[in-house]
Amino acid sequence: MNTRLLAVAALSALLLGGCTDTSPGGQAVRARHEHFEELGKAMKEIDGQLKADTPTSATVRVAADKIAELAPRVKTWFPAGSGPQDGKRTDAKAEVWTRNADFGTAATRLEAAAVALKAAVEGGDAAMVRAAVKNVGAACKNCHDAFKTD
Ligand code: HEC
Repeated sequence: MNTRLLAVAALSALLLGGCTDTSPGGQAVRARHEHFEELGKAMKEIDGQLKADTPTSATVRVAADKIAELAPRVKTWFPAGSGPQDGKRTDAKAEVWTRNADFGTAATRLEAAAVALKAAVEGGDAAMVRAAVKNVGAACKNCHDAFKTD
């Protein structure tokens, strides 16, 4: 292969990197994107219900359950080998790994907020649900501000 072909091959590998990286790290990046999409979708559904003034609807309950189910797993979505320092295309900052204890604290904050949201929805008090949703949103933002590029 001449150097030009090599360069083209390298470029295509780079461009396709997001979908063809079958290494464990690459798979972890793809899997966490999907999980975060689920979290994002659940939050959007809840926002929609709050706007429609139905904060204790079945839709909110299902979405709150989903967030409570995923929150404790967030930490496990960032195995070694899946960061920008490993050449992965990801919005995660290297700080996820270099400041892993702080990252864990940010994940734990979401876990606690998710448990509180679930309890609020089960309690059926609209004002408490609204406050709990706010806390969940703040926990998402808290981690994104420190550990995700925008
Ligand atoms: C402990 C840290 C942390 C918490 C808590 C967190 N996130 Fe994230 N989130 C990240 C990081 C890091 C990324 C970037 C992942 C990547 O690109 O590999 C991300 C990416 C995302 C994405 C983009 C996914 C994609 O397709 O690229 C969405 C949507 C998202 N988060 C939603 C949420 C929502 C909603 C919550 C709260 C319910 C939340 N996140 C809580 C760290 C967190």
